[in-house]
Amino acid sequence: MSDRLDDPRRDEALQTAARALARSARVAVFTGAGASKESGIPTFREPETGLWARYDPMRLATPEAYRDDPPFVWSWYEHRFGVAAAAQPNPGHYAIAELEHLLPQVVVITQNIDGLHQRAGSSHVIELHGTMHSFRCIDGRHRGFGWDDFADQDEKPPRCPACGDYLRPEVVWFGEGLPPDALDAAQRLSASCEVMLIVGTSGVVYPAAAIPMIAREAGATVIDVNPERDSLTRLCDVFLQGAGGEVLPELIAAVRAHLGA
Ligand code: APR
Repeated sequence: MSDRLDDPRRDEALQTAARALARSARVAVFTGAGASKESGIPTFREPETGLWARYDPMRLATPEAYRDDPPFVWSWYEHRFGVAAAAQPNPGHYAIAELEHLLPQVVVITQNIDGLHQRAGSSHVIELHGTMHSFRCIDGRHRGFGWDDFADQDEKPPRCPACGDYLRPEVVWFGEGLPPDALDAAQRLSASCEVMLIVGTSGVVYPAAAIPMIAREAGATVIDVNPERDSLTRLCDVFLQGAGGEVLPELIAAVRAHLGA
């Protein structure tokens, strides 16, 4: 389907998606790095511009990499977090947040660690891959430290205020399990939602990528928003080709129209 705004097939797909959402009592919105792309935060796997196209994830996003060279890995995350901290939610984030005010229950399940859904006003967000806004000591005994808890430290990486070990971000690295409570909540929601709206994920990293399959197998209507066809498009009922910041405001306006809101 073309992403030309005047393509009748595109409008038909948009209306189909809007009708399904308008009728739904429980919606899960599953997002990946593409949802934050228009906020200026790079994705991971896009050719040339993706983070993993330019850097080696195995040298940066694993517990072994951090133990081998804590200052190097810390500087990488400090750079990424600086980019994300300067970023603002984009129209796609705000459209998702607005959905909460139109429908009985909307929960965001995100793979992103930037916190932009919350800053846009989404109040129910499950962070499957952790967050850049919380830190723990390297063996996990002390958790929940914020940036302010080590702002006075010059050493990089900073030290745990409780035990003096290095701090690390509470993000999920390759080879690590997802936070059990977050994964369980996401799986339960996916098995009971009526519609799953997928935005901006390549759908290649498991177990997160299995979330839409759970929804599909439970009979939910699955909608995919992405400029490109991705690994999940094949299992979707509706594919809305385009950038989230452009498609989502249109989609939510169509939902509002269906609701007469
Ligand atoms: N709007 C919506 N989607 C977009 C946009 C946009 N403006 N721009 C790009 N995309 C799509 C791309 O086409 C791609 O399908 O976003 C997707 C980004 O895919 P990835 O870079 O693989 O990001 P993601 O799916 O979130 O990766 C999953 O992998 O490295 C780990 O922990 C990391 O959470 C991440 C996980």
